[in-house]
Amino acid sequence: AKNVEKFRPAYHHTPLYGWMNDPNGMFYKDGVWHLYYQFNPYASVWGNMTWGHSSSTDLIHWKAEAPAIYGDGLGTIFSGSSVVDKDNTSGFGSGAIVAIYTSAGMTQQQSMAYSTDNGMTFTKYSGNPIIMSDQECRDDKVIWNEQTNKWNLVMVAALEHQVLFYSSDDLKHWTKEGAFGHGYGAQDGVWECPDLMQLPVRGTGEKKWVLIVNINPGGPNGGSATQYFVGDFDGKQFVCDSKPECTKWMDYGKDHYAAVSWSNSPNGRHTVMAWMSNWQYANAVPTKQFRSANSLPRDIELFKNVDGEYYISTTPSPELVALRGKEVKYGQFSVHKKIISKKLPLNADGLYEILADINNSNITNIMLSNADGDRVLMTYNSAKHTFGMDRRRSGLVDFSSDFLAATVAPTSASKHQTLRMFIDRSSIEIFDGDGRFVMTNLVFPRSPFTTISFQSNGRSKINNLKVWNIKY
Ligand code: FRU
Repeated sequence: AKNVEKFRPAYHHTPLYGWMNDPNGMFYKDGVWHLYYQFNPYASVWGNMTWGHSSSTDLIHWKAEAPAIYGDGLGTIFSGSSVVDKDNTSGFGSGAIVAIYTSAGMTQQQSMAYSTDNGMTFTKYSGNPIIMSDQECRDDKVIWNEQTNKWNLVMVAALEHQVLFYSSDDLKHWTKEGAFGHGYGAQDGVWECPDLMQLPVRGTGEKKWVLIVNINPGGPNGGSATQYFVGDFDGKQFVCDSKPECTKWMDYGKDHYAAVSWSNSPNGRHTVMAWMSNWQYANAVPTKQFRSANSLPRDIELFKNVDGEYYISTTPSPELVALRGKEVKYGQFSVHKKIISKKLPLNADGLYEILADINNSNITNIMLSNADGDRVLMTYNSAKHTFGMDRRRSGLVDFSSDFLAATVAPTSASKHQTLRMFIDRSSIEIFDGDGRFVMTNLVFPRSPFTTISFQSNGRSKINNLKVWNIKY
């Protein structure tokens, strides 16, 4: 680990070299989580899109595999998904991995490749493209629909702000069904990378369909972000429960895009991962050998809010607990006007998980800082029910004016919050205890954060503060 670039994340997935954007084609089979991604093997900027490949048995340690799908006469290989074809519906073999992706050439068409060695190598289907289109249509996500006993495929008509639905019995021949979009949710940018899944509603026996639609630009903090819709889906048509103007966000940071789920996850899990960057500055972040990392894996479900709406609840995947090394307990303390600072158990890289259980009155400020004067200021406002994070003085920020940002998330009405923060060499991810908000932001501090400080305009109480060194 000695020759590692300063800002290369230690426990987040990154490509060995070159450029990465969207996670693609993820599937789980026989104890292995496969992760493909938009990859440029030739430079650390976008281009020459290829499906890179990594695999993991624990969702934390990733093994770099050989790139899986290279461009061809139909174009470069844009985003898509894969499924495990257990019943050999495609005829490629029982248990074959079938990948459906966008061929980006003169136009964008949908193509297929299959693997009979568990995703290590792929053969392109001779009948490509399998879906032709004359608009900018892309980013196929295929799911098995248990209710209709058919495959469904969703993709976007990116410029029309529409999601298109298809159905199939054999993964090769697709019938166009309905479309959803036009006027629903956020519309400012192009719609990209959709996903469709049925999620359980926490504490009930109910399940609802969730349609994820990434949008760029037009996110809540500018640039790229992940919105979603909750409703019903009959295999043909998606009907949204909410009013068209209702927009729901999966993550309130600036660096969460192209979020999609693993196919065939064990135990009915819905495990998702997002590209941890923003198209506003992704090509300019201060790394060299590689560009971009993925978010930590997260498991999602739904909860019903007091306003009657269903929202996604996001929890760090349970595997992440294995990252906890030495634990330092700071116990209970009160926080008023005076700043209270606690030294973090600094290890070489400043990699931490921090758990803060807070009873907030008025405003509680939480600050991470280092010896170079870099700082990240978090503000939890119990009157406004917001949680904010300001990275404008977090270290290297001047590579893009869009990087200068303070992001804000809505919290529950409760004055009691449990925050779980994951700090890597160039990112901070914050999850609240009941999964209501997640905030993912890149930071490039000149040296690792060494101190966490608290201050309150009222009388707040830290019921518990624990920090773990990340053991990797
Ligand atoms: C989203 C996206 C996709 C496309 C891919 C190309 O970030 O623009 O729509 O398939 O990246 O790399």
